[in-house]
Amino acid sequence: MSKVKTKFVCQECGAESSKWLGRCPGCGEWNTLVEEVAVKKSETRLTAAPAPKPQPITMVDTSAMPRLLTGVGEFDRVLGGGIVPGALILIGGDPGIGKSTLLLQVAAGIADKQGPVLYITGEESAAQVKIRAERLGKISNNLLIFTENNLETIVLEALHHKPALVIIDSIQTMYSPDIPSAPGSVGQVRESTGKLMRFAKESGIPTAIIGHVTKEGNIAGPRLLEHMVDVVLYFEGERSYAFRVLRAIKNRFGSTNESGIFSMEEHGLAEVSNPSGLLLAERPQGAPGSVVLAYMEGVRPLLIEIQALVSTTCFGMPRRMAAGFDYNRLILLMAVLEKRVGLMLANQDAYVNAVGGFKIAEPAADLSVALAIASSFRSTAIDSLTVVMGEVGLTGEVRMISRAEARIAEAAALGFKRFVIPAGNFPGLKLARTAGLDIIGAASVSEAMEAVF
Ligand code: TYD
Ligand code: MG
Repeated sequence: MSKVKTKFVCQECGAESSKWLGRCPGCGEWNTLVEEVAVKKSETRLTAAPAPKPQPITMVDTSAMPRLLTGVGEFDRVLGGGIVPGALILIGGDPGIGKSTLLLQVAAGIADKQGPVLYITGEESAAQVKIRAERLGKISNNLLIFTENNLETIVLEALHHKPALVIIDSIQTMYSPDIPSAPGSVGQVRESTGKLMRFAKESGIPTAIIGHVTKEGNIAGPRLLEHMVDVVLYFEGERSYAFRVLRAIKNRFGSTNESGIFSMEEHGLAEVSNPSGLLLAERPQGAPGSVVLAYMEGVRPLLIEIQALVSTTCFGMPRRMAAGFDYNRLILLMAVLEKRVGLMLANQDAYVNAVGGFKIAEPAADLSVALAIASSFRSTAIDSLTVVMGEVGLTGEVRMISRAEARIAEAAALGFKRFVIPAGNFPGLKLARTAGLDIIGAASVSEAMEAVF
């Protein structure tokens, strides 16, 4: 009998070593190497289809690539217009954010019109999934629920039923009997994903995998997983808010600029066609500290209200707090306001909030945050039909932003009349000559303040 070979695999990054090490040579994390049995992989083909041969690129047949429309418009949009045959799609997100709900809706949408969908759940019982499907009001004989963790069985069943889509909920609960380590370990997750990749490519059946994220925000298992699949989507949002954003991080079949916006309702996820309108629905009129920002979510302009509250510190160090906005950026903007504009903020507490639970990571939000702080500090409201956008530099200058035209167009469609934008964006702007729009190009924060106060 041959000796069992073992290797040590880092549970963070997937690096391998022949002996145990305290620190992973790949990612530098401590104590992450775990012993796994090395197995020789069998590379037998799954289907009877002939093995592909090299061929001239001009002879490649692309006619057999119709995309599968799921019936969930926002999902199709993020994928670049539906699911490509044989695609392996990874969907990551925090627990409880709605990944299973989203994919169950996608499954039901396809099962309704396009053929059977195999939904494999290793997390919930079939009854639980049924109850959820009933709650979503989507129940069909074409939706096959399979509670199984063994990937070998799953692949066999999938090849037998030939569904239009296979869904794996979740990859961390699946195991391949070839590998002795436990489900959820790096070795298993990687091996299972590899098996599913082969299944999807050889059968042409698209497969969607749900993956949990670690507390660092990565899909659990190595980064390697993201390289193996064709598409990586993240489903994000604040749990206490209804809004959810689906983003493409990687897409071999389309752009990664698209995003889908949903709201979590009592009967599942609803697609939001006019997110800006919804986001601004509860905006207070004439309140100091409230500024509307035109924010780019991928290629999509969104109007978001930025609120700031500035009040005198009662004792000790002033407090600064940012929700949905980078804390260090807030500190920087307050320093710019203090030094370049002359606002005495050193003894003031400041709180900034991007309403709706969105995380604003775009520099174009700087000017609206700065003006919201100034507005609250001066207890003077900014005209409620004004939209502000621009990046702020350390000398107090307002720097150019991307896609100013699209942002203004979105805001104008919702009835906004005044726009404070970076001076550098002004000359190229076609909308500047549109009647009824008052567009102001500001070169510095002080100029922007003169324009709004
Ligand atoms: P779920 O899809 O189970 O999340 P994940 O698979 O990402 O862990 O969704 C969980 C949350 O969604 C749960 O807290 C309840 C909520 N929810 C609704 O608000 N409405 C619904 O119709 C459904 C099905 C779930
Ligand atoms: Mg789930």
